[in-house]
Formats: sequence, structure tokens, C-alpha cells
Amino acid sequence: MPTLVLQPGALIFVTGVNGLIGSHIADQLLARGYNVRGAVRDVEKSAWLSDYFTGKHTAAHFELVSVPDMTIEGCYDAVVKDCAGFIHVASPLTGQDPQETIPQAISGGVNALKSSAKTPSIQRVVFTSSSIAATFPKPNTPFSINETSYNEDALQWGWNHPADQPADLKGLFIYAATKTATEKALWGWVRENKPGFVFNSVLPNANFGAVLVPEKQGFPSTIEWCHYVWTGENFDLMTKRIGPQWFIDPVDDALLHIGALIYSDVQNERLFGFAERFTWNDVLAVFRKIAPARAFPDDVEGLGRDMCEVPNQRAEEVLGWVKGSGWKGLEKSLREMVPAFEKVGGK
Ligand SMILES: *[C@@H]1O[C@H](CO)[C@@H](O)[C@H](O)[C@H]1NC(C)=O
Repeated sequence: MPTLVLQPGALIFVTGVNGLIGSHIADQLLARGYNVRGAVRDVEKSAWLSDYFTGKHTAAHFELVSVPDMTIEGCYDAVVKDCAGFIHVASPLTGQDPQETIPQAISGGVNALKSSAKTPSIQRVVFTSSSIAATFPKPNTPFSINETSYNEDALQWGWNHPADQPADLKGLFIYAATKTATEKALWGWVRENKPGFVFNSVLPNANFGAVLVPEKQGFPSTIEWCHYVWTGENFDLMTKRIGPQWFIDPVDDALLHIGALIYSDVQNERLFGFAERFTWNDVLAVFRKIAPARAFPDDVEGLGRDMCEVPNQRAEEVLGWVKGSGWKGLEKSLREMVPAFEKVGGK
């Protein structure tokens, strides 16, 4: 077991703390005795988060601070005071305008690094990237990715939507370009400026699993895809647009961030959060087991399968240090997701 760099009791700064991954990161840090200062755009709108964590965790402290605009240089300077680590999860809301979204994401990330470099107490910075910063899923195509892979297609397609691609993929392409360009920019900044902190990134694929506070968070991020399978709403279009790829449980995802944050061994690494391959028919099969009386769409013909080889063993090793075991599997994660659908449901 490698050495802990950051001990329980340390204060960790987490941006985007109200989202799916950010909230699980805070929850898992607090459970391990780390204090968390979480940033959101609007503290009043996210007050439920303070209530939730304060009620749940008594051994560690959670506080919420407001950073309304992460593109303003120095926006994090005052709020990271006394922090030992910085986990940058926040992404700008993806609009349909790459000129706006992509530069916003890059400057948010670079501002996180600049403030951390000015704050000597910060020893570790972790960035939430995405599988899509390394590659788009390419069903039925054998290929491999590694630590040097970036999604060059995304940089093209995000800035200039290709005429032969469906218009409704524009948002996804901009998101992919955002993650690719930001992760590249952050590694470039670290190489150039040689800050006093250690930097790592995490590249999770689709997150399926428990939503921490579904009454407030709804079906955030990629949880929504599974909700389409659960209700049948938007199912045909979604299964056409979102192909077979990999999944990760959001708690495992959070624990990977924590491993990258606290362990001495993890330095200058990109951790691939790819737990298990899935197709929509796999998700349907689990849902039919969970809710045998419920009507679901039929299996989709010709979905193909993912054939991407990815060096995810290192991430699973780091995960093992934090949780004592490996990836949570698809069936268990989906079982833990369904209560959110039943609680907030609608249909
Ligand atoms: C990573 O992938 C690239 C492109 O496929 C390949 O050229 C390179 O040899 C690979 N590097 C390692 C360390 O496997």
C-alpha cells in the first residue's frame, strides 16, 4: 500500500460539487474524515447539499462557497485558502456555441491550476476529464487507447460540426471538444510552469449508479440515458446516437479521484475509469430482472459491440487502495440506480 500524502483532517476543495460526480467525491471524502469546501455557482440554490452532508457526516466538516464565474482569473484565489487538495470537476453548461463553451472550460481549468500554484498548502490537484477526451466510442472497431491518446476528431467536430453528422449530436461534440481541449491545456500548463503540486486526471466513461440526492439532482449526466431505457422515452433516438461503450459506477469514479488525490504513488497520471463494457441490451436485461412486471422496449437489433482496448488496470489498482476491492459491476450499479427512478419517477 503506497504512502498517504494527504491525511484525514485535510481540507479539500471540490468544484462542481452539486453534480453527480462532485457530490459523490464530497460524500466519499467526508466519509473518510477529509473536510470538504465545495464550490457551486449559487450557494443558495445548493443549500440542500450542506443540509444533506451536515446531517450525514459528523466527523468531518462540509462548507459551501460560491464561485459564480470560473472564467474570471483569480476566481479561486480566496476560496482555496488553507486547502491541501483541489479537485476540479466543474464543466460549463454545454451550449450550442463552441466559441463560448470551449474557452470557458479551458479558462476554468487553468484558473484552478493558477490559484493552486499560488497556494503553498495545496499539494495535489485532480482534474475530472472524460473518456471522450481520449476517444469517441467506435462500435465494432478494434482499436486501443493509452496515456498519450487525445480525441483529435472531437477538436475538429466540436468547433465545426461535420455536415454528414446528425445535428442533434452537436452538443455532444462540443462537450467532447471541451474535455479534450481542457485536459490538453492543463497538462501543457503543468509541463510549462512546473508548479509545486502534483497533477493527475481521471477519464471516466459513462457513469451509471446511485444518485446521492435524487430529489434535488434528478437524473444528472449519463444517468439520464438509463432513465430513457427505464421509461422508453427517447429510447429509439438515444440508442441510435449513444453506442456501446464502457461504464463506471459513480462511487468508484469518486474513489478514483480520491486515490489520485491522496496517494504518493499517483503522479502525472491519467487514470482510465473504464469498469466494464455495456450495450443497451445489457442494461435492458438487468432492468427486466429488477422489474419483471414492468414494460420495457424490445432489445435493439444490430447494436454491435465495443472493441476498445484501454489500460484500465492501473485505475483498478488505485481504486483497490481506496476501497479494498475492484470495479463495481454493471448489474450492481444499475440496481443502485433504480431507487432514484422510483423516488423521482414521474413515469
Ligand atoms: C499509445 O498509442 C499510440 C497510438 O496508437 C501508439 O503509437 C503508442 O505506441 C502507444 N503507447 C504505448 C505506451 O502503448
